[in-house]
Amino acid sequence: MTRINVRVDGVTYTDEVEPRTLLVHYLREQLGKTGTVVGCDTSNCGACTVHLDGRSVKSCNVLALQADGHEVTTIEGLATDGRLHPMQQAFHECHALQCGYCTPGMIMQAIDVLNENPKPSEQEIREGLEGNLCRCTGYHNIVKAVQQVAGTGEGERA
Ligand code: FES
Ligand code: FES
Repeated sequence: MTRINVRVDGVTYTDEVEPRTLLVHYLREQLGKTGTVVGCDTSNCGACTVHLDGRSVKSCNVLALQADGHEVTTIEGLATDGRLHPMQQAFHECHALQCGYCTPGMIMQAIDVLNENPKPSEQEIREGLEGNLCRCTGYHNIVKAVQQVAGTGEGERA
């Protein structure tokens, strides 16, 4: 076991982890942050996406040890003072989810897309989200939600 210090959703944790422990398993099983989900465990689906020092990563592809000394934000750390993050609100308003399984990772990735490029084209949004799979929505409303936050959707260009 190895000791790590990691800040998750604004709280600092000191924990013992096995060298092979994946960040997603640390978040879910040791910290109880089950908002971050596992879809594949093989870095294909993006359901486990979190932010590591402000950039999105697939947390099934990162060791908990690699987060030592770093800052992690999960879907559970986005709301402030009981108010949804604008991207969460947009997903809600645009009906950008059905079963919701992909949603935590999709939202974390969508925020990263806009952090990198605040006014992306529809194509750039689709490319930015291509590592996150959704079985339900056909992606259309997800793209609309991202456009709503960016202010680049139809009727928002003026
Ligand atoms: S669970 Fe990490 S990419 Fe699918
Ligand atoms: S809403 Fe069901 S997988 Fe995306």
